[in-house]
Order: sequence, then C-alpha cells, then structure tokens
Amino acid sequence: MKNTIITFLAILPLLGACTKKSNDILIGEFGSLTGNDATFGLSTNKGLRMAFDEINAAGGINGKKIKLITIDDQGKSEEAASAVTRLITQDNVVAIIGEVASGRSIAAAPIAQKHQIPMVTHASTNPEVTKKGDFIFRTCFIDPFQGFVGAKFSIQTLKAKKAAILRDVKSDYSVGLADVFATEFKNMGGEIIADLSFQGGDLDFKAQLTQIRSKNPDVIFIPGYYTEVGLMAKQARELGIKVPLVGGDGWDSARLHEIGKEAINGSYYSNHYTTESTDPTVVEFIKKFKEKFNETPDSMAALSYDTAKILAAAIGRTKELTPKNIRDELAKTTDFPGVTGKITINADRNAVKSAVIVQVQGPERKYISTVSP
Ligand code: PHE
Repeated sequence: MKNTIITFLAILPLLGACTKKSNDILIGEFGSLTGNDATFGLSTNKGLRMAFDEINAAGGINGKKIKLITIDDQGKSEEAASAVTRLITQDNVVAIIGEVASGRSIAAAPIAQKHQIPMVTHASTNPEVTKKGDFIFRTCFIDPFQGFVGAKFSIQTLKAKKAAILRDVKSDYSVGLADVFATEFKNMGGEIIADLSFQGGDLDFKAQLTQIRSKNPDVIFIPGYYTEVGLMAKQARELGIKVPLVGGDGWDSARLHEIGKEAINGSYYSNHYTTESTDPTVVEFIKKFKEKFNETPDSMAALSYDTAKILAAAIGRTKELTPKNIRDELAKTTDFPGVTGKITINADRNAVKSAVIVQVQGPERKYISTVSP
C-alpha cells in the first residue's frame, strides 16, 4: 500500500504535465539569450512573449493557450542544433521560432525539416535558410535585397565611388551580405578597393583598418554584428579614418552605441523598421512594448512580435492542429499587417518587404529613407 502511494505521488506531477500539455499549444523558441549577440535573443524573446501574452489574454487560439518554451543556444551553432532537437523530441512543440543569426538558423533548419516541424525565422536574412526545406519560413527580407539597398545608398546618397569591405568570414550572414554588396556596388559603377576579413569574437581590427586607410575609400561596408562593429568604429576613428561606415541589420542593438560611443555616430545601416514611423500599428506596438519592458523595441523585437502573430494566425486557421497543417497555413500568409510592414510569404517561403536606412545618433536611430523591393 505504502509503495502504491509513493508511486502514485511520484507520477502525480507527470499526470499534471500531461494534462497541461494537451490543453496548451506548445511553441518552441531558440535564441542567443547569452553570449556575444545576447541582445538578439533577449529582444526576440520579449517580442514573442508580448505577442503570446496578448493572444492568451484575449482567450488564446480556438480556446487553447499558447505556451512558449525557450532554449538559450548561447549564440553557438552546435547549441542551436541541439536546442531544436530537444524542442522537437522532448518538448513536443508543434512549431519553432528562431534564430536571429543566419548561421544558427542554417544549423538548425535541417533538423526541423527532418522532423517535419515548421520553423519560422524572424530575422535570418541569408537566402540559404529557407532553402533547407518546405517546413522552413522567414518573415524578413533576404540579403540579396539588403546588399542592394546598402550599395544603392552608398552610391546614390553618399556619392561613394570606392568602398572597402570588412567581412566576418565565420558568419554565413556576413559573407553572404558582403558578396551581394560587392556585386551590386560594382554593377552600379563603384569600385571595391579592399575586401578584408575578421572573425566574430575578435577584439583588434587595427591591422585591417590600417590597410583600408592606405587605400582611401569613400565608405567602409561592415556586414557584422553590433559587438565587433562597435569596436571597429572606435578603432577606425582612432586611426583617423573619417569616412562613414555602412552596415546591415546586424548592427541593430542598443549595445552598438554603448560599445562604439561617439565613434559610431553618423554611420548608417539598413534595417527592418523605424521607431520614427507614424503608422498606428507601429506607434501602438512601441507604446505597449515600452510599458511592458521599459525600453524601445529594436528591429528583432518587432520582427519576433510579427512572427508570433503570423504563426498564431496560421495555427488559428488549421482545422486540426498538426505541424503539417500549420506549415500549409503559414505558406498562405498574405498581406499580414505587421509592425515591420505588410507581410506576404512567397513561393520560396520568404517575405518580400521594404527596408529602411537609419543613421546612428547616440542611442537614437534617425530615419533616412525607405527602399522598396
Ligand atoms: N539578419 C541577421 C542574420 O541573418 C540577423 C539580424 C537580424 C541581426 C535583425 C539583427 C537584426 O544573421
């Protein structure tokens, strides 16, 4: 008898977990909550929580509540792959959201595809990500467009004729974006006078910058993430390099200016949305986000908020809640009115959207222009 009670008590929590499981819609998230690009994962997690809290407060989806299960991949590709394996095989999620960094999405996507669990990346812009299979989606634009935007801005607005590139050779995002920029810049009549390498985690870029200085470029294109870009800006100014730095969405973090200080002021990058927008959807989003988290949402927070809403809408349209049905409904996403623009998923499971150019001005980002595809 005693044994029976003990056994019964021991399985009680399990029973509880099972019952809970069947009532909730389990969605997995993997992201860099710690490590070199920690603001990426922290921001996306906030955007997702805000969206799902809103949906749950309004009654959930067809009477069921969403439960978000988040795993920190520490900004490492191997951890991203094992996080996705765990979300699928142990947590039994019906869909996955992540990652920000293209390299980590590329590492994880084949696993989601193999298990036929839909994975939606909110922010990975490298084309390869969604090529991993028909269960892999994205809600942001891709780098062939972003690289074109950077080149066009450099040539037409900054009147640059000679550009130098500093690329992170270990990052799929950086290499892809650097290649597109180089091609587009040359197509538009510009010249690439230096194309040099670094690696994420490096601290000293003086050798590359000294070489670049000797070639007198009009701009330096740096398709990196905010930590290295902040350090490069400082070192470039210390070496007397005065030309504008231009980059992509990987710059978008409050940490960029905290690291780069005044050295990064005046430089430009392409991004997914502007906090200066007067669109009521954006204004409302920023207001609610500030109330909840006491900070201005960066583009990853906005993208993840949109992604959560798009995924929830797809789930809401399914007749029966299966990963395959969610996949099919995600593919039908058309003209979703997001904070980051109107989102339609195309036949390649990518979103076709405008990009904005912003200028760093201390902790603020000044809106410069919008470029449509
Ligand atoms: N686009 C970047 C990548 O694919 C990630 C990123 C998106 C970073 C948005 C910051 C903001 O790696």
